[in-house]
Amino acid sequence: MVKFTLLALLALFPLALSAPPCSHQKHVKSTFDLNYQTNSEPLFGSLRLIQTGEDKEPEWMTENDVMKLKRNNINFMDVTDYLELGTHYKPSNRREYPVKPSYNEEVNPFIGNLTTKYMEENLEKFTSFHNRYYRSEYGLESSNWLFDHISNIIENHGDKSVLSIRKFSHNWKQNSIIARFEGYDPDKSNEVVIVGAHQDSIHMWLPTFADDDGSGTVTILEAFRVLVTGGFKPQRPVEFHWYSAEEAGLLGSQAISLEYEKQGRNVIGMIQNDMTGYIGSRSAEHIGIVNDYVDEDLTSFVTKLIGSYVDIPFSLTKCGYACSDHASWRKAGFPSAFAIEGDFSDSNPHIHSPNDLTKYISYDHMLQFSKLSVSFAVELSHA
Ligand SMILES: *[C@@H]1O[C@H](CO)[C@@H](O)[C@H](O)[C@H]1NC(C)=O
Ligand SMILES: [Zn+2]
Repeated sequence: MVKFTLLALLALFPLALSAPPCSHQKHVKSTFDLNYQTNSEPLFGSLRLIQTGEDKEPEWMTENDVMKLKRNNINFMDVTDYLELGTHYKPSNRREYPVKPSYNEEVNPFIGNLTTKYMEENLEKFTSFHNRYYRSEYGLESSNWLFDHISNIIENHGDKSVLSIRKFSHNWKQNSIIARFEGYDPDKSNEVVIVGAHQDSIHMWLPTFADDDGSGTVTILEAFRVLVTGGFKPQRPVEFHWYSAEEAGLLGSQAISLEYEKQGRNVIGMIQNDMTGYIGSRSAEHIGIVNDYVDEDLTSFVTKLIGSYVDIPFSLTKCGYACSDHASWRKAGFPSAFAIEGDFSDSNPHIHSPNDLTKYISYDHMLQFSKLSVSFAVELSHA
């Protein structure tokens, strides 16, 4: 999620400046943070090509300029390496989704196996890394932990003839992760249904980052677990994606969606889970369904899934341009949707700050999103 509070940033100054230089350098390979604060040349030297609106021309910016965008709550895509995104795919006809969900008998037993227990354990672990910043060693370590954890689920509980996992490497340290169920229908092997979340945290200074987006990470992980242990056999392939570098301008998801676009894959639908843990204070508990910069028909189908499989209602909300990784899939020409913890304006005020802690999130709330992920995977794998 790209949302920044000025207070959160101000809170960082004393911390970063008071860190002893030696130990600081030991843990943080670069002096990126100090450079940033002294407003000198950006450490990584190169300018980045940044887009802040669908109809806006991308602009060259320094890393400091990019940080200013974050502070000012301006969403962006870093398109420097992905100018090709959306230029290959030739959309066929608009996709039609079912009028209503119809695989209740298959979905419900999986949903019955969902538990907050594993989400809690996994989130405690996932927030224990010093950070999950995409360019840091810690970001790589947290990503490797996630990879090993998913591999173990497959190894110990899964049918290895239909399940696989891979690291999608980038030209930065942290990998994205893709876990995949093969479909049994050979005619649909080029099609894919995608459930996504992002692994990375916004920067290298502070630990935790529970809700953004540790919550989405473990939400879809729990959905994946019950599908594996329950022996899910989809008709067309289903993938679970954990993206790197969302906070840096949707870099991981742009890299992957560009690859799929170039390979001519047919993405039937993609749903992003970015922040699923915080129950807003202004209205009754619900799921926020984003209805700007998304596929209308897929989003409408998602609201029907909520009606059939989720115990709380939904409410439509807007999030703006390039709000999370679903935007990369949209740009590639594929239908994507976005479910968030509640109304965007009433979402977790602690994100991107030292207070993005597990104590502010509800595992029961997250479980509702796992139900949505399971139903999305099962229904769209057959539809
Ligand atoms: C529920 O999970 C257990 C393993 O924990 C598994 O044996 C069982 O088949 C699962 N049930 C369903 C309906 O997925
Ligand atoms: Zn964020």
